Amino acid sequence: TWTMLNIVEEQVERIRAQVGGKRVICGLSGGVDSAVAGALVQRAVGDQLTCVFVDHGLLRSGEAEQVEKDFVAATGATLKVVDAQDQFLTALAGVHDPEEKRGVIGREFIRVFERAAREVVAESGRAGEEVRYLVQGTLYPDVVESGGGSGTANIKSHHNVGGLPEDLRFTLVEPLRELFKDEVRKVGEELGLPAEMVWRQPFPGPGLAIRIIGDVTRERLEVLRAADAIAREELSRAGLDRDIWQCPVVLLADVRSVGVQGDGRSYGHPVVLRPVSSEDAMTADWSRVPHEVLATISNRITNEVREINRVTLDVTSKPPGTIEWE
Ligand code: XMP
Repeated sequence: TWTMLNIVEEQVERIRAQVGGKRVICGLSGGVDSAVAGALVQRAVGDQLTCVFVDHGLLRSGEAEQVEKDFVAATGATLKVVDAQDQFLTALAGVHDPEEKRGVIGREFIRVFERAAREVVAESGRAGEEVRYLVQGTLYPDVVESGGGSGTANIKSHHNVGGLPEDLRFTLVEPLRELFKDEVRKVGEELGLPAEMVWRQPFPGPGLAIRIIGDVTRERLEVLRAADAIAREELSRAGLDRDIWQCPVVLLADVRSVGVQGDGRSYGHPVVLRPVSSEDAMTADWSRVPHEVLATISNRITNEVREINRVTLDVTSKPPGTIEWE
């Protein structure tokens, strides 16, 4: 539509005016926002841009592979993949406070980007050049909920807004800062991104780390990843992908309860299913997922993931609950 075309043209102009002939990097998370932001900057400044996908070990199963394939195919952008799993897990060791987790993750992201920026310059063979600009897919609601809007409390420091280090060396390029999610999706379509990418359900940058209530460890991540994959598979199979805004699966890693599994007593962890419907994530309602679908998810998770012996459903709207548990 003409409005989306206008937004694209206006942002392309603004990006060109901001970065001139300088080199830019863009952090891709696998989500809609960073993909659309990256595609806009690619449209504006072409191969001055290098996209960086950070595998921080907090991703869902299959996510890294998808970005590597789909985004490059759709945009032709230069992509650098960084395996930073050990770095993030080490930095997160022993951290259980939600805001502290976001702070650590935001900081490690920036370290990876700084390293990537130096490599981009080295590889370009033009010593003395510097990457000064970092693209982020920050949306209007992220700014508001991180306390950036006037008169709003800080609800959560979104890792790419409130969680940035004070001594940030990059100037941020944030072409989606005034947009809501539905507009971002339309801009993505306008830019020719594939439907699977544009209509993907939101997934937070800090990933599974903020869905493990307690410390984040490799073992806990594996357990949650397995449960999450089952929930996603069954919700898709039931045709609910577009009805549900997103469905976090939350691992209550410090809670244990007694159950009977297989041959006898178990003492495992609960997971919480948090399917919600929403327009813009500022408010949300819990989704009325059919009982049979919930039953299948519950049976499969408790049968297939040994460490989990209880599946619960979150029936809280936002407010008072937020969508993510942390
Ligand atoms: P809440 O939990 O605040 O979430 O109701 C609203 C939306 O934002 C996502 N979310 C995040 N996204 N970095 C992100 O990129 C973050 O730190 C973050 N925290 C929450 C959440 O998945 C939901 O879509």
